Amino acid sequence: MTIAVYPGSFDPVTLGHLDIIERASKVVDHLIIGVLNNNSKTPLFSVEERVKMLKDVTAHFPNVEVQSFGGLLIEFAHRCNATVIIRGLRAITDFEYELQLAHSNRMLAPDVDTMFFTTNLRYAYVSSSMVKEVATFGGDFTKFVPEQITASMLEKYKDVRKQYLPTDKDSV
Ligand code: PNS
Repeated sequence: MTIAVYPGSFDPVTLGHLDIIERASKVVDHLIIGVLNNNSKTPLFSVEERVKMLKDVTAHFPNVEVQSFGGLLIEFAHRCNATVIIRGLRAITDFEYELQLAHSNRMLAPDVDTMFFTTNLRYAYVSSSMVKEVATFGGDFTKFVPEQITASMLEKYKDVRKQYLPTDKDSV
């Protein structure tokens, strides 16, 4: 039985992430999504909110579960008895970081391999950061995220957007 972990910040989960989850869940027996709980970063959504959003959008995949983790990814993979780490590659710009991550993880744990999925071309430009920027300035972010998280995004941006509404001072 092949167990894989798919780690990430998922702040928030995008359609690109969901596409990788769907495809990876067909290749491995059990897929555990690992939501990074990193105290040094201030995410838009708390780790509890991110875990809940991921549970909502993956509820229809019988072999997918969602957990949070802190510390080293390979330690999380070992705790899950996973032998595979799933990562998505959108473009060549992702490659350098992903290669470094994969090599570091393999040095730390030779029994865990990284498997890359090329992102569906439809979502090749989509990132959580881009989604947040679009939402901040009032753009239609719903094209980039699963439908189930629209309400959480709107609620979160109700206050954030007030700070960024354009004023007369913004144009010169
Ligand atoms: O979606 P992201 O933010 O690109 O995911 C990055 C993630 C969570 C995969 C990476 O930051 C990570 O693995 N963090 C845990 C600490 C760790 O194990 N780092 C790699 C060894 S140097």
